[in-house]
Amino acid sequence: MSYADIHCHILPGVDDGARSIEESLDYARRLTAEGVGEVVATPHIGHPVFGTDPMAVPLRVAELQAALAGEGIALDVHAGGELFPHGNCDLPDEALELLAHGPPGARWLLMEVPFAGVDQRFAGEAAILMGRGYGLVIAHPERAEGLLEGGWELLEPLVGAGALLQVNVCSLLGNNGARAKAAGEALVRGGQAFTIASDAHPGTREHTLALGFPLAIRAGASSVQAWRLTQANPRFLLESGIPKGPAAIPFGPPQVPA
Ligand SMILES: [Fe+2]
Repeated sequence: MSYADIHCHILPGVDDGARSIEESLDYARRLTAEGVGEVVATPHIGHPVFGTDPMAVPLRVAELQAALAGEGIALDVHAGGELFPHGNCDLPDEALELLAHGPPGARWLLMEVPFAGVDQRFAGEAAILMGRGYGLVIAHPERAEGLLEGGWELLEPLVGAGALLQVNVCSLLGNNGARAKAAGEALVRGGQAFTIASDAHPGTREHTLALGFPLAIRAGASSVQAWRLTQANPRFLLESGIPKGPAAIPFGPPQVPA
């Protein structure tokens, strides 16, 4: 089995990720060399600065996939998007469907937390999307300010309702600060994280999901957990979709060693 990365800004020229097709291809070569077999292109959607049009994503992904084939790079790229935390819950169904993954009845979207902290507005908009029939994978909760100081209380009901949490490789590396690193490690160690993804921005932030395996071990996960977080679980999401219904295991808040 190879790594499957569900969060990556590999699509060129649409947001703050890869700036050119050359940067996308260089990064893709590195992915295949490091054992990453598939990746979801997740440009920012609804971001106040980047504002990628969701309707344009499939064509851009097809262009990238054709360029990869032309270079003989064996990387599968799926169309997706990273929903900005506010302002996307009223996107029409046809737009959300272009960004969602999984089979009918188990479709899910990637939605990032507000860096300023999980708030009632985020929780409300997440609940609206879930009410529209989409499961949610919540991107980099460890980057939300104050997650370990009360932010979890607003996130926990969403997790209880079936939302899954995705921790970033760059957070586990310490690139987003000590608090995000501690929170990310706590989510990995405690089992609240369902998957790890790169959230890479080729050309500027080029870490790969392959790093996620040793970083999960360093955070305190077993080798089986690390395999699930970086390979089995993201692939399950892509092939089988998001598990339905409330979380089977009621998680407590992430614990940071004293
Ligand atoms: Fe991202």
